[in-house]
Amino acid sequence: MENRKGTGKTALITGASSGIGQELAKLFAQDGYNLVLVARSVETLHRLAEVFELNYGTEQVTVIEKDLSEEDAARDVYEQVQAKGITVDVLVNDAGVGLHGKFATETDWEAEKSMVNLNVLTTTLLTKLYLRDMVARNEGRVLNLASLVSITPFPLMAVYAATKAYVNSLTQSLVNELKGTNVTVTALMPNATDTDFFNKAGAADVVATDMVDDPVMVAKDGYEALMSGKPKVVPGGLVNKAYEVMAYVAPQETMAGMMRYTLTPKHEIAQKVREQRPTIWAVGLGLAAVAVSGIFLATRHRQAALAE
Ligand SMILES: NC(=O)c1ccc[n+]([C@@H]2O[C@H](COP(=O)([O-])OP(=O)(O)OC[C@H]3O[C@@H](n4cnc5c(N)ncnc54)[C@H](OP(=O)(O)O)[C@@H]3O)[C@@H](O)[C@H]2O)c1
Repeated sequence: MENRKGTGKTALITGASSGIGQELAKLFAQDGYNLVLVARSVETLHRLAEVFELNYGTEQVTVIEKDLSEEDAARDVYEQVQAKGITVDVLVNDAGVGLHGKFATETDWEAEKSMVNLNVLTTTLLTKLYLRDMVARNEGRVLNLASLVSITPFPLMAVYAATKAYVNSLTQSLVNELKGTNVTVTALMPNATDTDFFNKAGAADVVATDMVDDPVMVAKDGYEALMSGKPKVVPGGLVNKAYEVMAYVAPQETMAGMMRYTLTPKHEIAQKVREQRPTIWAVGLGLAAVAVSGIFLATRHRQAALAE
């Protein structure tokens, strides 16, 4: 066991049972935080609690089994934590799902409603309940899982992208409202990441799954941005930063076409390549040009920022 000293502080992490949330939970444990872990996979959460206690000497891990897509789930979690007398110093709204398919004809409304409840309503109410307490103490931090697609259209995951646009917009408004306090809110905006996300969203075979980032890197960049109180962070290197810059400057229609390509099943792309080789080459060259100009703009942006 690494003998680390506890901070006496507590981080509440939703979606800690897998992927980015689990990596974030590990970082908090390594830094001596007590934890409140929330998700449906309660056995996984208990196993994690044991690992953290054993490996990092984590003093207190509270596990809450909750389906956060249920109405009033956020209030229920808040009340359970209050009843245990735990003060939450850091809130991480990580739990979220996606859903692949054409909005008009393919996706199921009940699944979409559940996704909006989880990604939007629960995130909003948890943020509201805990920010109120943090502002009263004049101390605290919130990390909200947005996405790089929060600033672009994302055809074939239209509702998912809209939920992430909401999360990002909410976060950036709160950043402004909280100025002058010691409370910070940060949006984490990952590109496609190597977790179970695409599989659960019914998109296991899409092009984006060939270009995924490491969840360890994503969590580390998010954790550092959270701890330094940044309003937002796009984890990863220049390519992801270039995507961000392109999303701000390129026409929405261009971005929509490019993003749709990433959500197209690979076997459909293979079929199209066989049928229309010249067109695919043109699209490929177009995408390369967009990426190169994005990298150019991101580099110029960074140089201008350094020169200021
Ligand atoms: N992977 C990506 O490409 C990517 C990119 C940008 C942003 N994000 C965002 O990152 C966050 C984490 O996703 P991930 O990639 O780490 O995916 P993941 O491995 O599938 O993890 C999702 C987490 O959310 C929890 N969750 C899902 N539905 C829930 C529900 N109804 N109630 C409670 N918890 C629920 C899951 O726990 P249980 O199943 O145990 O409940 C799990 O811990 C999400 O908000 C996602 O939108 C992901």
